[in-house]
Amino acid sequence: MNFDNRPIGVFDSGIGGLTVLKHLVALMPQEHFIYLGDTARVPYGNKSAETVQLYSRQCAAFLREHDVKLIVVACNTASALALEDLRQSQSIPVIGVIDPAARSAVASTRNGHIGVIGTRATITSRAYEHSIMQHVQGTAPKIHSVTCPLFVPLVEEGWLHSDATTFIAREYLRTLVDAHIDTLVLGCTHYPMLAPVLSTIVPDAELIDCGQCAASEAQSLVKPCTPTDQHGTIHAYVTDQTPAFTALAESFLGFPIGIPERVVIDGPDERKATS
Ligand code: DGL
Repeated sequence: MNFDNRPIGVFDSGIGGLTVLKHLVALMPQEHFIYLGDTARVPYGNKSAETVQLYSRQCAAFLREHDVKLIVVACNTASALALEDLRQSQSIPVIGVIDPAARSAVASTRNGHIGVIGTRATITSRAYEHSIMQHVQGTAPKIHSVTCPLFVPLVEEGWLHSDATTFIAREYLRTLVDAHIDTLVLGCTHYPMLAPVLSTIVPDAELIDCGQCAASEAQSLVKPCTPTDQHGTIHAYVTDQTPAFTALAESFLGFPIGIPERVVIDGPDERKATS
């Protein structure tokens, strides 16, 4: 078997991608990871496609400087708006979180009603609809998409179980409840943190966690590190040292990550796509 000891690069608009990194580490504990959170420019979810593509190219260029063997675009918004652009400009594999989750949703649904929730940019792009339809064999499912812009700030405030969060989630998911969805795609990095609340609102629906789905795809794509008894390493970088990152990282990731290093990625050279 061939081995490849280079790290896996993961980027997100901020802290949310740690919910994806958590699954990558759980599945591939011996791998080395470079995580970049673009905390200076978060959120991506309400920005234009052009801006998200520029930011994503800069994130990818930073990861390439660390000689990564694979780039995981952990951010749903960047996966929706910038994945094709990145794939064309990079000579290493680049995966997003949307396609693996879409495949899983198609496999999960029994009644053909799939709910998708995400940021405005992700839902407006219709990336999930397109991806789900590519995986369908036979009758096309009905896809019910809803934007949930208040979920990201609620999670970042740590309001995971409050009455206000439950109330807002009920409002957002009302049409999905009425549609009797049996599968709900959590189409944003932060939403797995709300799974306990969401599953009380759609108790019969399977919740699809994009990070979990993407981790399996990543594992199938990379040559592993040489086996040792040691665990792999995680080096985290941010574009701004924000109090939120330090306070929330452990709850997103499930274990402490230490203080991330601050880096600048938006210099003029990074504006060009790298190959
Ligand atoms: N990481 C983003 C996503 O998964 C959510 C936060 C943002 O809007 O940047 O879409």
